[in-house]
Amino acid sequence: MYNYEAMFRVDGKTALVVGAGSGIGEASAQCLAAFGAKVICADINQAAAEQTANTISENGGQAQAITIDMRSESAISALFKQLDPIDILISTPSINVRKPMLDITEEEFSRVIDLNLKGTFLLMKNAGKGMAERGSGSIIVFSSIRSQVVEPGQGVYAATKAGAVQMVRALAAELAPKGVRVNAIGPGVVETPLTAQIKNSPDWYNAYANRNAMGRWAQPHEITGAVVYLASDASSYVTGTIMFVDGGWTAIDGRFAPPL
Ligand SMILES: NC(=O)c1ccc[n+]([C@@H]2O[C@H](COP(=O)([O-])OP(=O)(O)OC[C@H]3O[C@@H](n4cnc5c(N)ncnc54)[C@H](O)[C@@H]3O)[C@@H](O)[C@H]2O)c1
Repeated sequence: MYNYEAMFRVDGKTALVVGAGSGIGEASAQCLAAFGAKVICADINQAAAEQTANTISENGGQAQAITIDMRSESAISALFKQLDPIDILISTPSINVRKPMLDITEEEFSRVIDLNLKGTFLLMKNAGKGMAERGSGSIIVFSSIRSQVVEPGQGVYAATKAGAVQMVRALAAELAPKGVRVNAIGPGVVETPLTAQIKNSPDWYNAYANRNAMGRWAQPHEITGAVVYLASDASSYVTGTIMFVDGGWTAIDGRFAPPL
């Protein structure tokens, strides 16, 4: 019989988690370590990366911390030359400038694109090269429900999240013959530092809670089931997809519950 129990394990694999210092990246690093991976916790915030790596080590996992700015091609390509071969890449960092399209400046547009699209591209490219040479690997990129549906003030962010999905599909097509899988995760609303501004505004926070089918926000650990699934052999026939972890946000229009 196939060993079903082992299929979510990632023992012996090295996972590079970029954005591991906070929120979903931090939880993803902890989860992959719990399932057996050696985790490289990477972040532009050195103290935050070290804290995540220390927490993993204190709980019996294998982790190291590194500092990296994923917007720099020279830094990323130098990093991949130094590191052990990477079996799993998780790319989480993104920023949002919540402003009407008509008010977004060129500088703000460039800042969001530079991290969310270019930085993600550089990680996918550099991780994908080594994985293709070795004939295996799993790349997981964080997109969003905003790749599909928008609201006022999300124009540029949403464009980057849709763009990330298209890069995922293209790289999945290019690397499937080389044994490398590439997928995206689309969270709904998750309580992290990225969304602290919303949590501090009860009307806004509750409106988002009530917009999804489950009537609440997610905690970061609730996103990690999808991470370990897509990282492991449990998803060995899954590539080029976006997996929503959104409490049903994209399934419903959310405006009205008819009296039934
Ligand atoms: N939180 C949500 O509700 C939510 C919803 C949908 C999608 N997402 C997506 O999930 C992903 C993770 O979001 P989060 O809420 O955990 O974010 P977060 O802001 O809590 O964490 C992002 C991390 O990325 C790091 N970072 C920023 N710039 C970097 C750079 N140039 N190089 C390396 N690291 C850098 C930050 O220091 C931080 O530790 C993002 O792609 C976001 O768009 C989040």
